[in-house]
Amino acid sequence: MKTDIKSPMLYRSLAENLIALIEKGTYRVGERIPSVRQMSKQQSVSISTVLQAYLLLENQGWVEAHPQSGYYVRAKLSEQAPEPEISSPAKDPSQVSLHELAMMLMRDSTNPGLVQLGAALPNPNYLPIEKINQALAKAARRHAVDGHKYIIPPGLEELRIQIAKRAALSGCQFSPNDVMITSGGLEAIDLCLHAVCRPGDIVAIESPMYFGTLQTLEVHGLRVLEIPTHPRDGINLEALSFAIQHNPVRAVIVISNFNNPLGSQMPDDKKKELVELLARHEIPLIENDVCGELYFGEKRPLVCKSFDKKGLVMLVSAFSKDISPGLRIGWVAPGRFKTELEWLKFTISASPPTLPQYAIADFIESSGYDHHLRRIRREYARNVELMSSAVIRYFPSGVRLTRPSGGFVLWVQLPEGVDSLELYKKALEEKITLAPGHVFSATNQYANFIRLNAAEFNYVIERSLEKLGNIIVRGNQS
Ligand SMILES: Cc1ncc(COP(=O)(O)O)c(C=O)c1O
Repeated sequence: MKTDIKSPMLYRSLAENLIALIEKGTYRVGERIPSVRQMSKQQSVSISTVLQAYLLLENQGWVEAHPQSGYYVRAKLSEQAPEPEISSPAKDPSQVSLHELAMMLMRDSTNPGLVQLGAALPNPNYLPIEKINQALAKAARRHAVDGHKYIIPPGLEELRIQIAKRAALSGCQFSPNDVMITSGGLEAIDLCLHAVCRPGDIVAIESPMYFGTLQTLEVHGLRVLEIPTHPRDGINLEALSFAIQHNPVRAVIVISNFNNPLGSQMPDDKKKELVELLARHEIPLIENDVCGELYFGEKRPLVCKSFDKKGLVMLVSAFSKDISPGLRIGWVAPGRFKTELEWLKFTISASPPTLPQYAIADFIESSGYDHHLRRIRREYARNVELMSSAVIRYFPSGVRLTRPSGGFVLWVQLPEGVDSLELYKKALEEKITLAPGHVFSATNQYANFIRLNAAEFNYVIERSLEKLGNIIVRGNQS
């Protein structure tokens, strides 16, 4: 028998090559992959290496062994589990009061002793750390003095030019003056709400909703009207239209591409319909597109803003998911609220950090941003798939989970009666953190849901999901 002395991880790269071929469609569902012997000959590796690789593929749900016959490509595990149904939240507006839970999650998300499945942080290995550090050093050299000055709103022109150029990919024709730089996406949302709402006003939102936005609504003393939202194509427009007719809705917030936590993506015609509906009622739309670049399909999806004829859409984005969350650079295309937003930004914090604006502009222009994005899109798609498979494998039957078409979070519906806060506490005892469904609604609609961060997938994470599955099963039995 041959022995492989090249690398103890050879079986992993063999498995990875096969996964790539399955993903490309070279081997299709139901088709047999080369036999162990053929593969050993073809790749000049030992039988045991091939067997290890095939076992890994089998464990990860890519292939199944048919006795006496070989290994066959199986349907993706995630396609075998049902999705959660469209949400049906409370019909009345309500105040938000989630800050204690949110702070608890935030503290856990910075604890290096925990397996991090909670906060929706990007995988640090997929950030262009080296290149962005070089760009920062270059900016510090080139702008030794200016790098320490304020850049008053709308922010650094070079960066606004890069953003305006890229906006064409999502259907927008911007001039650099249509864009204002902010300190991250959250600040942009905060400024938008400041510009159009006063305490006590009603804001209609998708349900479930990213808890950072719920926090901002809480800080502003706004009431939220949670609108049913489909896990694949987003907010239900009939329900929204009904809500608008029966409530004085002051603004609407959606995450049109790769909603957090749903992963949903509104189809383009639905985006257009939403913009037209709100235009008829003169209601501003705050569109959060922070994950828009992380699509798994062929093409960058459009944004609602691309259908905006009245300047009522405030498009918000940031570089926090694909370049660096810590540099704190986001932006907003505020439409008709430009003057108001620039004044607010200047009054509240004068300027976003200066050197990071230079560095990001330089990185986008000259350091292979597109190449970087292509790579991380592939990696995130793969990790989401692997984590979905693991959830189906280790969680009790009856779980439902989303099928995100971009981003890196999974929304998992656990069997009725499982309380995700209880699960959260028990998981902490096992040194695992997750995001309980409670924080994604102002009216506690999602007690038996959890959001998992699928930005990373490895052996430790797989074992952690197995432990979570065991906790849920034990809880169900007691
Ligand atoms: C949907 C969504 N919007 C905004 C943010 C925050 O963006 P930033 O870090 O740029 O403020 C996040 C971060 O998790 C997010 O998931």
